[in-house]
Formats: sequence, C-alpha cells, structure tokens
Amino acid sequence: MANDKLAAGSRLDEATGTQTVGHEWDGIEELDTPMPRWWLWAFYATIVWGIAYVIAYPAWPMIDRATEGVLGWSSRGQLATEIAEQDKARAATVAALADMPIEKLPDDPALMRAAVAGGRAAFKVNCVQCHGAGAAGSIGYPNLNDDDWLWGGNLKEIEYTIIHGTRQPGGKDTHTSLMPAFGRDQMLTDGQISAVADHVLSLSGRAKPNASGAQIFADNCAACHGADGKGDRQFGAPNLADAIWLYGGSKAQVVQQISNARLGVMPAWGGRLDPVTIKMLAAYVHSLGGGEAFAATAAAPGETAAAQAGAVPQEAGDVRP
Ligand code: HEC
Ligand code: HEC
Repeated sequence: MANDKLAAGSRLDEATGTQTVGHEWDGIEELDTPMPRWWLWAFYATIVWGIAYVIAYPAWPMIDRATEGVLGWSSRGQLATEIAEQDKARAATVAALADMPIEKLPDDPALMRAAVAGGRAAFKVNCVQCHGAGAAGSIGYPNLNDDDWLWGGNLKEIEYTIIHGTRQPGGKDTHTSLMPAFGRDQMLTDGQISAVADHVLSLSGRAKPNASGAQIFADNCAACHGADGKGDRQFGAPNLADAIWLYGGSKAQVVQQISNARLGVMPAWGGRLDPVTIKMLAAYVHSLGGGEAFAATAAAPGETAAAQAGAVPQEAGDVRP
C-alpha cells in the first residue's frame, strides 16, 4: 500500500525498490514494506466477520445479560431445543410405559430394557444416598441386589414399596410394622435377650442351639419372624435364618436390635416422582439380581397393606417360598 505520509527523510531503497520509513539508527534503515494483500484481505474479513457476529449473536455483556443478537440464538435456547428433541424421542417409550401395567412389562423385553435404563438414571438421582451407588445398601439400608426382600421382590411389590414407602407418618398405604424394643421396654431381661440372640444366630449356624432362647423366640418373635425365623413380608420382618443382615449379624448387633429395635423408614415417592419414573425404578431394582417372578408370592401388596391395617400378627411363614 502506498503511504503518502512518510516521515521526512524517507527515500526509495534501491536494492529492494521499497520506500524507507525515514528512521535511521547507526546507518540501519527501516523499510516500509507493504503488508501482503492476502493478509490484508484476511484482516478486513475478520473485522467484517466480527461486526456481523456481534450483530447476529449475543455478544456485549450488559448488566444482567448480554445483548441478544438478531438471530435470537442462545445457548440456553439451544439446550432447550436439544432437550425437547430428546423428550420427543423418549415420548414413545414414556407413553408405552404409562399404558403398560407393570405386571405385563416382562412380556415386552425392549420396553423392559428401556425402563431399566431409565430407572438406572433415576436411581442415581434419588436413591443412591441411602441405598448406595450399586444399590448394595449399608447398615439399616437394605441391599437391593440380593434376593432377600423385606416387603416383596416382584415388580408389583417393589413398585408398591417405592410409591408408598415404609413407616411414613400419616401415609395410609405405607408399609408399617413395629418390632418392640424388648430391652428398652423391659419386656425381656438381659439374660433372656442374650439367649434369644443365640437362638437367632443358631438359625444360620453362627451359634449353638439354645433351648431357652428357642422358647423365648416362639413366645415373642415367631408371630412376626415365623416359627422357623424365615421372616414374614406381611410385617417386613426379615429372614433371620440366612446370612443377610439389615442391622448386622454379630451377637452384639443382634442383641442391640432385640433390645432397642430400629425401624427403617423409606420415603414414599408416590407424590414426588411421576408414575412412569417409578415404574422404571421398579424395573431397575427388579433387574439387579433379586427380582422375583409373579408366581413366587401369593398375596398382592394391596391386600397385604389392607390386612396390615388392622393386623394382629398371626402365625407367619406362609408368604415365603
Ligand atoms: C432416606 C433414605 C432412603 C432413600 C432416599 C431411599 N430409600 Fe429405599 N429404603 C430405605 C430404607 C431405610 C429401607 C428399609 C425399610 C425397612 O426397613 O422396612 C428401604 C427399602 C427399600 C425397598 C424395599 C426393600 C425390601 O427388601 O423390600 C426398595 C425396593 C427401595 N427401598 C427402593 C428405593 C428406591 C427405588 C429409591 C429411590 C427412588 C429409594 N429406595 C430411596 C431408605 C431409603
Ligand atoms: C411386630 C413384629 C416383630 C416382632 C414381634 C419381632 N420382630 Fe424382629 N423385626 C421386625 C421387623 C419389622 C424388623 C425389621 C426392621 C426394619 O426393617 O428396620 C425386625 C428385625 C429384626 C432383626 C434384625 C435382622 C437383620 O437382618 O438385621 C432381628 C435380629 C430381630 N428382628 C429379632 C427379633 C427377635 C429375637 C424378636 C423376639 C424377641 C423379634 N425380632 C420380634 C419385626 C418384629
């Protein structure tokens, strides 16, 4: 580019044919070499592009938001569109799940897979804080991977437990039962508690049989836990004859539970999550390994809850296979 305003002393450099800028340091002069044309045009193009961008897209930060841009694009808007597209893609699955009674779900393996995937995601958000990332549970929070169920392990029973929870104050359909605190309420002496704890532990081969403990068990515990200690889902009473423990299987832990029974409270999700999400969660929990087929259990959960409302624990052991 020709420069008309060169400093005084500017001259044509003969060797290169280029004008000098007119400065000179110890005989060294600076050439006024013009920018290459392609560079200049690229430079102008970036300016034009920059101005167009500022007009078209959100750009200048203002007090609470940036200028909006004539195209109306925003990252939030884009996210909303993407979510809407995802929702559309899911809508068919969600609609199919909404129409499908949960007991029919196993007849549609593709829908079942979709439900399990959705349930896995919802479990991470709502359930891991208590049941653990792999649903393996911890003291007081049941492991959902095993085939030991407090309240029942078929799809319908799991769904029921998720909807209504356990021991929810005021929840009319919630699972409820109260193991007495035999020590705290002085129903049994320390010696009797120790004996019955030995009997409980003997059921899984952890202690020698204890005859007086067995008698105490028959009188005080069998109504809920069953004569053989195998539990009763009607009362959420765990199987005491297996190696799976909700509150720990050491003698001290068993004594602790008998003296001072703890009672697990599981939130009711019915009002907080939509029915399709709950169905998905039930499918996911059922898929974890302990899920039972429908034939395995006799009583429907609804009947169970109704029976419980006015329930006096009867001789148990009929629900477990
Ligand atoms: C605040 C802690 C907490 C959260 C959160 C929670 N649970 Fe539970 N859950 C429990 C407890 C405690 C029990 C045991 C209840 C009992 O002892 O009767 C339980 C029991 C269950 C059972 C019954 C297990 C059986 O053996 O019958 C299922 C199924 C279950 N939870 C699923 C879920 C799902 C699905 C979610 C997420 C939507 C969830 N839970 C969130 C605490 C929780
Ligand atoms: C009214 C019913 C009921 C009676 C009676 C009862 N239990 Fe329980 N028991 C339960 C329930 C329900 C649980 C589980 C509590 C929970 O889910 O948090 C339980 C839990 C236990 C546990 C913990 C099991 C585990 O897996 O950690 C032990 C041990 C136990 N009971 C022993 C006894 C003994 C021994 C007696 C008699 C002295 C007795 N129970 C009487 C209902 C009963």
